[in-house]
Amino acid sequence: MLCGDKTVDKILIKGGKQLFGEIGISSAKNAFLPILAGSILCSGNVVLHKYPKYDDVTNMVEILENLGGKKKIVDDALMLDMNNLTNFEIPKELACLTRSSIFSLGSILGRFKFAKVAYPGGCEIGARPIDLHIKGLQALNVKVVDRRGYLTCDGREMKGGNVHLDFPSVGATENIMMAGVLAKGKTKIFNAAKEPEIVDLQNFLNRAGAKIKGAGTSTISIEGVKSLHNVEYTPIPDRIIAGTYIIATVMCGGEVTLNGAKTEHLQSLISKLDNNSCKIITKGDKIKVTSSGRLNSIAKIETMPYPGFPTDLQPQIMALQTISKGTSLIVENLFETRFKHTGELIKMGADILIEGRSAVVKGVNKLYGAEVVATDLRGGAGLVLAGLVADGYTTITNIGQINRGYESIENDLYSLGADIKRING
Ligand code: UD1
Repeated sequence: MLCGDKTVDKILIKGGKQLFGEIGISSAKNAFLPILAGSILCSGNVVLHKYPKYDDVTNMVEILENLGGKKKIVDDALMLDMNNLTNFEIPKELACLTRSSIFSLGSILGRFKFAKVAYPGGCEIGARPIDLHIKGLQALNVKVVDRRGYLTCDGREMKGGNVHLDFPSVGATENIMMAGVLAKGKTKIFNAAKEPEIVDLQNFLNRAGAKIKGAGTSTISIEGVKSLHNVEYTPIPDRIIAGTYIIATVMCGGEVTLNGAKTEHLQSLISKLDNNSCKIITKGDKIKVTSSGRLNSIAKIETMPYPGFPTDLQPQIMALQTISKGTSLIVENLFETRFKHTGELIKMGADILIEGRSAVVKGVNKLYGAEVVATDLRGGAGLVLAGLVADGYTTITNIGQINRGYESIENDLYSLGADIKRING
């Protein structure tokens, strides 16, 4: 797939069906991606179970192959031979496919002492600067040159150091963690992000021989080691996909059980939903959602770093608020332009007013089917949910965005009874 390549397929939905049944939750995109980046540090074989076929993940595997890694897929496992990496550059045509290319700087530096990475791609949701990544690497004594769309890093003098993040950036935390793994001495990251995917990255790297402590808290300590070895690992399930299907069930009504989810990663969502007309019961890795119709609006939803409400569920919860009873205030604190989907929801009859980082959503009785564009990955998921409850037909274009983080959102929802299918453009 080349940058700018967009699938011409569309998703067609006829709204109005309730959802019933069971569905398994696949691996977390945001865990798999940094773990793939972390594989660059392993001079050996890496086996990752429950390999999900999201486009972002497939693109990241292509980046590893370009560095010299060799892949095999056996059943649900991705097997990577990372013994003989030969290349420390991620060229533009690959870097623009996924933002995770930038998270690989730390691990490429660890492996080669040099790295050359083109500016990353990913969702169009705001400026997404990389200053914290660069400052963090500089604190580990890496020389960084930023020229003509490439970051060129010289890590020959790289050594452990203290990094204070001005903001708990997920990607910067992961990048610096990986840079510290093979650097001489101790690295400490203060004000680190606490997302479960960071804990998963720590667990993966430690299983491969790294010495990392503290992921999941705001201080992470890394003691440099000489090398990482063979490793076999199963990344955590995707809390955003689970959250999307929970919200879908709440919106459509019905009864759906999610299997293989991590309930503890979804508390910020579940605590908001378990109210007047829906019930959420969690037991082990199962989440049972029962819903009978329109909810009362949630007065205020504010996106925050974990364990706060995830920005990656903001468009989906907004879709729910468009048909809830009352008014909701949604504040987007993470990404300044992550409201692009609102224009599309308004086309479907939603009543939304945007003022800077805030959206005031007045619930309407009904949404109406329309032709809408998936503006970004999670915005696209929000539109799918809106289509499930809209009167008539909704067509969603630019669904390549959705494919970046869902294996097949249409098949999943179809299996639960939705009237939804992919059509050729
Ligand atoms: C990751 C997730 C993404 C999620 C986001 C926030 C992956 C692959 N992606 O993205 O799905 O929406 O976390 O939970 O895991 N920032 C800076 N300078 C930097 C880095 C970030 O100012 O150097 C700012 C960003 O512009 C943004 C905020 O920090 O406003 C959060 O970004 P960050 O946590 O870095 O998100 P990502 O790691 O890109």
